[in-house]
Amino acid sequence: MYDMGNYENTAINFIRDYTEFSMHLPDGPISKKAPQYKLEKILQQGIPAKGRPLDDVVEELCRDIMPYGNHNNHPRFFGFIPSTASPISWLGDIITTAYNRHAGSADNQPAIWCVEQELIRWLNNRVGFPEKAGGIFVSGGSMANLTAMTIARDNLLEESDWSRGTAYLSDQTHSSVEKGLKVIGIGSSRIRKIPTDDLFRMDTQALRRAVKEDVENGFMPFLTIATAGTTNTGSVDPLSKIRDICNEYGMWMHVDGAFGASVVLSENYSDMLAGIETADSLSWDAHKWLFQTVGCSMVLVRDQKYMLNSFSVHPEYLKDLEKDGSSINPWDLGIELTRPARCIKLWLTLQVMGCHAISENIEHGIRLAECAEKKLRENSTIEIVSPAQFGIVNFRYAPVGMSERQRNMLNSKISEKILKDGYAGVFTTELNGKKVLRMCIIHPETTLDELKETIELIDRCFTESLEEVGGLWRKIS
Ligand SMILES: Cc1ncc(COP(=O)(O)O)c(C=O)c1O
Repeated sequence: MYDMGNYENTAINFIRDYTEFSMHLPDGPISKKAPQYKLEKILQQGIPAKGRPLDDVVEELCRDIMPYGNHNNHPRFFGFIPSTASPISWLGDIITTAYNRHAGSADNQPAIWCVEQELIRWLNNRVGFPEKAGGIFVSGGSMANLTAMTIARDNLLEESDWSRGTAYLSDQTHSSVEKGLKVIGIGSSRIRKIPTDDLFRMDTQALRRAVKEDVENGFMPFLTIATAGTTNTGSVDPLSKIRDICNEYGMWMHVDGAFGASVVLSENYSDMLAGIETADSLSWDAHKWLFQTVGCSMVLVRDQKYMLNSFSVHPEYLKDLEKDGSSINPWDLGIELTRPARCIKLWLTLQVMGCHAISENIEHGIRLAECAEKKLRENSTIEIVSPAQFGIVNFRYAPVGMSERQRNMLNSKISEKILKDGYAGVFTTELNGKKVLRMCIIHPETTLDELKETIELIDRCFTESLEEVGGLWRKIS
């Protein structure tokens, strides 16, 4: 039935060609623009009645589809949370998909389940969670947050009280949290956005006030979402103080560490996450700062029994796979049934690299961002809007005499020009109403020289943009 010709050779050739492509990635630009006619051709291609030769289709994929777009894994791609995926991880991905195991059941895949459990045990231990803690691999931070918040709701609120439950997050919390809250029935009228301080960390006095007020008004505060490594600025909310408030009001404390939790594996900086061990649950993306390809993330929970309370199921068609009646299956701990063995690539990476190299690679990003901040501070036209935290620095050009509106236009233009140049990827975000340039410098292969060249490029783009924004401004004002 599957007459695909000599697919082994095709696969081997692909691996060889891709390795070559990825080795030379840093020599080229950070993105490749897809010509419009190629996009249109794909949209009109359809599916042939009679199949085409495998080699031809693979060649077409690798020529006309896959190479286009942003190279998020490029060492000079500093936008969003860039990918840091190592070649070991993609090899793990190939192995995982080659075997194509259904990793939803312990009985079905006992050895893979051991790998997952052992990794979860090790990660929980590094976080400082107790022995009874549990966890599961999921596809990403959004799913990890959704899973944890479902557990919080189910374990703290009676179903009849769901409509009174309120949840607390900060004005810097990732949008996936609000999305997840809506999915579990906590709409925007019961989501409280707490303001942040000058380092973009949750203001705990404002949190306490909001919780108290809600209690007085008959609501049932049940969940606070703290962040360890915010998306905009890499800030860590005051975890211990938030824990105290949660204890006082009997609330669940979820920590969104999708980006920053990896810092617990750093030998020199893990104390920046003090208090994370007091969380009830934690999201941790391995595809952000743990060198994995997408999608690989973990949700860890202080006590596994809370996961079972939410997700344990025993339908008749799965009974053959739970013969001893007491075994726990992955499907009892999370939302998915059929799922890939996402743990395998992380296992392979950690076994091959070892803890010390993992720590060094994480710390490289923290230090490079500190170097970037230092260099940027030498320029008196630059304002550091948020200092280097967890590999992220935010800044803007703020020439004297320019209005705030002009400055916003100027910094947007600078980013556009950098992206057009293609040497580096520096995008914008907004902080306190200011358009700022944001660099997330966590790729372990980014060099100090590349960082310096990027800062010089940014400055050249500033000079060019200044005249354009000045001219445009004169025209419209
Ligand atoms: C702090 C934080 N939480 C959650 C997410 C969502 O993660 P994912 O994109 O893997 O769903 C992100 C993504 O950048 C993030 O930075």
